[in-house]
Amino acid sequence: MENILHGPGFLGTAGNFAADMTLIIMILGASIFTYGAYVMVKHDDFNKHKRIQTFGAVLNLIMVLWMMVLPFRDFIVRDNGGPRIPLFYQITMAHAFFGVIAIVIGWFVVLRGHGLVPKFLQFKNWKIWMRGAYSLYMIATLLGIIVYVIWFVVEPNPPTFK
Ligand code: HEM
Repeated sequence: MENILHGPGFLGTAGNFAADMTLIIMILGASIFTYGAYVMVKHDDFNKHKRIQTFGAVLNLIMVLWMMVLPFRDFIVRDNGGPRIPLFYQITMAHAFFGVIAIVIGWFVVLRGHGLVPKFLQFKNWKIWMRGAYSLYMIATLLGIIVYVIWFVVEPNPPTFK
C-alpha cells in the first residue's frame, strides 16, 4: 500500500500516486457537496441533502487527516528539502487556513443537522450557515487545486515522500 501511494503518479506531473489520487478524490468531494446543494435547492429534500453532505464531510475529513496534515507539517512547518519558491508556502498556508475554517463550520452544520449541538448553538438561519459552509469548502478545494499545481508543476524542487 505504502509502495503504491509513494510510487509514481498518473497525471504526468511530479506528484506521486497519493497526491494524484487525493486531487481526484477532493474534486469528487466538491462534486458531492455540489450535488447535495442541488438536491436541497431543486428538490427541497432535506433528508437526502443531509445524507449526501454528511458523506461529503466524512470523506473530506478522512482525506485531510490522512493525506494533508503530515505533508503540511513536513514541508511547510519543518520545510524539509526546502527552501522553495515563496508561493509554495503562501498558497499552502492560505489553503490550510480556509481548509480549517471550512471543516469547523462544515462540521458544525453537519452536527446541527443531526441534532448534536447544545441548545444555545442551535441556529435557525440554515440558509446562511449551509451556504457559508459550502462556499468555504469550494474555496478550500480551489486553493487545494492551486496547491497541487504549485507543488508538482511550478515548483522546480517538488516535495518527495519516502
Ligand atoms: C475543506 C478542507 C480541504 C480541502 C477541500 C482540501 C483540498 C485539497 C486538494 C484538492 C489538494 C490537492 C491534492 C494534493 O496535492 O494532494 C490539497 C492538497 C494539500 N492540502 Fe488540502 N484541503 C483541505 C484542508 C486542508 C488542511 C486543513 C490542511 C492543513 C493541515 C491542508 C493541507 C494540504 C497540503 C499540505 C496539501 C499538499 C499535499 C500533498 O500533495 O502531499 N489541506 N488539499
